[in-house]
Amino acid sequence: MKVASVVGTRPQFVKAAALSPEIRRRAKEIVIHTGQHYDEEMSKVFFESLHLPEPDYDLGVGSGSHGQQTGLMLAGVEEVLDKEKPDSVLVYGDTNSTLAGALAAAKLHIPVGHVEAGLRSNNRTMPEEINRIIVDHISTSLFAPTKIAVENLRREGIEKGVHLVGDVMYDLAMRSANSSKTKEILKEMGLRSKGYLLATVHRPANTDNRSNLEAIIEALQECGRPVVFPVHPRTAKAIRASHIFVHRSGGNIARIEPVDYLTFICLLTNAEKVITDSGGVQKEAYFFGIPCITLREETEWPETVETGWNLLVGARKKEILRAVRKFEPKGRPAMAFGDGHAAERIARLVAGG
Ligand code: UD1
Ligand code: UDP
Repeated sequence: MKVASVVGTRPQFVKAAALSPEIRRRAKEIVIHTGQHYDEEMSKVFFESLHLPEPDYDLGVGSGSHGQQTGLMLAGVEEVLDKEKPDSVLVYGDTNSTLAGALAAAKLHIPVGHVEAGLRSNNRTMPEEINRIIVDHISTSLFAPTKIAVENLRREGIEKGVHLVGDVMYDLAMRSANSSKTKEILKEMGLRSKGYLLATVHRPANTDNRSNLEAIIEALQECGRPVVFPVHPRTAKAIRASHIFVHRSGGNIARIEPVDYLTFICLLTNAEKVITDSGGVQKEAYFFGIPCITLREETEWPETVETGWNLLVGARKKEILRAVRKFEPKGRPAMAFGDGHAAERIARLVAGG
């Protein structure tokens, strides 16, 4: 049994790190890296720190318009699949790499397994929403993380091949929570546990809209707490282009390069609150019971909002600041993301054993 995993972006390296060892226990896996993310801190550090196997193929596609990037990846993945002839292809999440991998495989009549199937934000201006819808409709096996995801698929007429397996990011988060190396970052940065906010921003709706980006940065500057801000390269570029001032030192914002996964989980679990527009980070905040202030109008993870642990505030400065002061969920989040064995379940379904 030969399984090809297509990855290309930071969140996919994280998801593959949960699943790859389980696949390798049961089958031969080849890893195809599209090259969508290529900076060392967006790619290589994840392979190293999460002990991911080196990619067998690196397509080196890099950045570009949606059509250009997806087209190059489609041609590249197709060529590899044609040569390797895997029995099955795994794709993760909702990026352009996911779309290219699924489309290339489906056209070659190779069964496609979609990890994180069935998510919907119901906002079709998000490129991810288009990718999710298409990939779900051409996948053979749909590995849904939550009951809501199963229901979303059912509503679109997809019932065959749907498996409620739980969330592979939950599996990995539980395994990684107590990694020993991590507390170093708090010492290095002079941070007190629960004495700072953690912020990430990278959605085009926020980075490519100057007034939204400005409102978010101003809220971070005025929130009255230290803020750790690992800056995504898209956001770094937008900040440079718009000449918005973000403190490098001396102010309350510590603007840093993106960090590796274990360091990020340490920064997250010790934060008072998280401010983010990331899909994965909303979920991770929930796993660890960290209040999450989401810089979006909707989410593909409604469980986190319905249970009171995630507040959607868009890019409105006043609402962000109010949430920093007042958003205090009580108790612990009720778990909705499986039992920590999602990866094992997926690997059994894909490769048997
Ligand atoms: C992509 C995904 C998004 C996911 C995110 C995770 C799509 C459509 N978007 O968004 O769903 O949430 O990854 O982080 O697939 N860049 C660099 N170095 C890199 C990578 C990117 O400088 O290693 C810069 C380039 O200027 C590039 C921009 O970031 O144009 C955006 O990169 P791209 O991969 O197109 O989208 P992301 O915003 O990273
Ligand atoms: N992450 C990381 N370092 C960072 C920021 C995020 O390791 O500096 C991890 C985070 O823990 C999560 C994943 O990257 O597992 C989320 O990726 P991202 O926010 O880029 O994409 P999304 O989930 O929105 O698609």
